[in-house]
Amino acid sequence: MKKHEINISFEVYAGISELPIADAELLSQARNVTKLAYAPYSHFYVGAVAMMSNGKIVSGTNQENASYPAGICAERVLLSAASSIYPGQSIKTIAISYIGKGQKSNRPVAPCGICRQSLIEFEQRFNQPIRLILAGMEGEIYIFDSIRTLLPLEFSGDDLR
Ligand code: THU
Repeated sequence: MKKHEINISFEVYAGISELPIADAELLSQARNVTKLAYAPYSHFYVGAVAMMSNGKIVSGTNQENASYPAGICAERVLLSAASSIYPGQSIKTIAISYIGKGQKSNRPVAPCGICRQSLIEFEQRFNQPIRLILAGMEGEIYIFDSIRTLLPLEFSGDDLR
């Protein structure tokens, strides 16, 4: 028997003023687009904004449905938009923020499991790590170098060959 250990590492910033300017700009846009979410059931509004490798910006917000499972997270709305509007373009960085009714938005929240799976597919498809900037409307900010950090031992197309 052998024991394997997987460690994750990420950067923690105290606030937006500590971020490099391009990251601060992207996070600020993610915070802004939370307003565009359609979340009448959860009242949890998520905004995701991507910097594409061609320098274009694409955003996504969560889109809910009365039939709850038909709703889509902001991250997957973003990936579908990016792949449809700029096919063949990889994503360099995604900033994600949120605001919930009657709750504080002062800490980062991480993408759900399905979104991590979709994000890793996008990374592998273009062989380009996607940096993730996670933050609430205030408080600490986390930066990950790659979605792989959040989904080790992932299932991928390689497993189907
Ligand atoms: N949501 C996202 O948009 N992204 C996530 O990674 C977590 C959850 C949305 C889905 C749903 O509309 C609401 O937040 C509450 O789960």
